[in-house]
Amino acid sequence: MKEHHCLHLVQQQMYCEDVALAKIAEQCGTPTYIYSKAAIEKNWCDLSTAFKHQRYQIHYAVKACSNIAILYMLARLGSGFDVVSGGELERVRRSGGDISKTVFSGVGKQQWEIEAALRGGIGCINIESESELLLIEKVASYLNIVAAVAIRVNPDIDAQTHPYIATGLHHNKFGVDAQQAIELYQKIRRSPFLQEHGIACHIGSQIMSPEPYAKALQQLVAIADQLCKDGLQITHIDIGGGFGIRYQDETPPTISDYATVVNDIIADCPYRLILEPGRFIVGNAGVLLTQVIHLKQTYQKYFAVVDAAMNDLLRPSLYEAWHDIVAVKAHKGECRDYDIVGPVCESADVLGYQRRLALYPGDLLAILSAGAYGFSMSGNYNTRTKPAEVLVDGDNFHIIRCRESSLDMIEMECIPWENNDLCKE
Ligand code: LLP
Repeated sequence: MKEHHCLHLVQQQMYCEDVALAKIAEQCGTPTYIYSKAAIEKNWCDLSTAFKHQRYQIHYAVKACSNIAILYMLARLGSGFDVVSGGELERVRRSGGDISKTVFSGVGKQQWEIEAALRGGIGCINIESESELLLIEKVASYLNIVAAVAIRVNPDIDAQTHPYIATGLHHNKFGVDAQQAIELYQKIRRSPFLQEHGIACHIGSQIMSPEPYAKALQQLVAIADQLCKDGLQITHIDIGGGFGIRYQDETPPTISDYATVVNDIIADCPYRLILEPGRFIVGNAGVLLTQVIHLKQTYQKYFAVVDAAMNDLLRPSLYEAWHDIVAVKAHKGECRDYDIVGPVCESADVLGYQRRLALYPGDLLAILSAGAYGFSMSGNYNTRTKPAEVLVDGDNFHIIRCRESSLDMIEMECIPWENNDLCKE
């Protein structure tokens, strides 16, 4: 068992905190996402402790895992939030999160989303283009509100991560370059409806070294210093999220390794630090529980067809990401190298290649490190219902999202030419 994860073995049975995974499968069915409350809280508190010498605020990136029970827990710890849509903003509001401790990121904010954010008293909107600046100004002016804003700078730094999740290079769609940022701050200064609060960046996700942060932060501090000299009021620097976690056998820096580097640079500066971690808080605090439906042997391979699929956990198919897969109850069957595949009609629907396991149909498997970008990226392809979500708390567990039913998916559709009763039968 990988010790970084939230599961442990008790008499050959896998537990999350004090609850046997088999018990959750029995009561809630599979596939089911399971999160450990203690692990989420520990990760948040570890992060908080690492940065405590600094004036800082943690804004949990809601996109990593956006269930309102989890947002509620984090809000109670004092967390702020990073949102990227009106939907995520609504989740923060409904979970009692503090909108004034929420930042709004993303390249495509729409008018209704900006309006909702400003009406709700958003802490800061991170602007990613001139066009967006003008739209925010327009909305703020008809609401007669002064919008708190920051410019997201694209520092052109290689975060050495998967190309799909690198965001800080000039060819990426995110942010604006340093020169354009300075020009946009002049526009902000001249607008009665915009007030600069900070400067922001986010260079990527699953970053495995503190160096890219050091480079980005140095750039941001230099720009902020220049802006302050010019009379602007930059009070915070937002360095985004991206702290890497262990999925397989990587050795990511510890959170204090990141913090040391960041603190060294920012310690003597007058700026408050903002962090937007997602994966670090929830990634290794969650697993996806699934059951083997069939075992199948072809000329070349053994397949275990399980009831979870790429629509439930997209990361292996989209990024060729590795997730450990372990048996929930060990038994003495013969070990084989299985491709663990889902029922979806795509050859890319593989959750793990060549996993050495002893399996029978009906066995339960846990797919590890699935807390971040697991459920939140799930979909309904092949008209598959989204999994249930369960939060374990000591020897208790709570269903924090019911399993969808087939009806839930079909309900919103209608056949315009027929008597509508047909759809209701
Ligand atoms: N802030 C901003 C502006 C972001 O775009 C993101 C992630 C974060 C913070 C949080 O990053 P984290 O701390 O979680 O690395 N679906 C991909 C990851 C995409 C990340 C997108 N942005 C995956 O499954 O690996």
